[in-house]
Amino acid sequence: MVQLSSVFTTLLIATGVVVAKPTPKLAEQPVVTYLGTQGPILSSGAWTSKGIVYTSGTVPSLNGSIISGGIEAQTAQVIKNIAATLEEVGTSWDYVLKTTVFLANMSDYAAMNEVYGAMLPSPKPARTAVEVGKLPGNFLIEIEAIAAIPDS
Ligand SMILES: *[C@@H]1O[C@H](CO)[C@@H](O)[C@H](O)[C@H]1NC(C)=O
Ligand SMILES: *[C@@H]1O[C@H](CO)[C@@H](O)[C@H](O)[C@H]1NC(C)=O
Repeated sequence: MVQLSSVFTTLLIATGVVVAKPTPKLAEQPVVTYLGTQGPILSSGAWTSKGIVYTSGTVPSLNGSIISGGIEAQTAQVIKNIAATLEEVGTSWDYVLKTTVFLANMSDYAAMNEVYGAMLPSPKPARTAVEVGKLPGNFLIEIEAIAAIPDS
């Protein structure tokens, strides 16, 4: 396999195709693991690299437990939790470039969108919103975000 892939790489170089080397995660860029002053967050936090932060899928937890309440309350909580993660790495919703919204039920789209629209600064980030067959746990929504980190 090693020989095959190096032959392939050589071929690509010979034909003038630049092969990008994968960039390892740098040790000095810490994994974000806690949620500001709110207590533990039920997600694995975020990775930063080259002035960009990638959050994990963030769920409607408050102080370590999934909050009760419908899609409006859960959407608001997820947005607040992502805000805390972003703040921890020195950015905010103002710098979010892209979100992905996972809904347990697409019938919740309009209600989610109303809270999302009201809470996020404009212009809104690019967004993908999909219904997934199931989310781990009984929550209705999970959101992940990619944001620029200013002054980095
Ligand atoms: C989180 O839970 C701890 C332990 O039960 C409690 O002391 C703390 O006040 C809670 N914080 C919030 C924000 O609810
Ligand atoms: C999605 O929500 C609609 C409206 O509340 C409901 O009728 C439907 O049963 C839900 N679907 C699932 C798979 O729970």
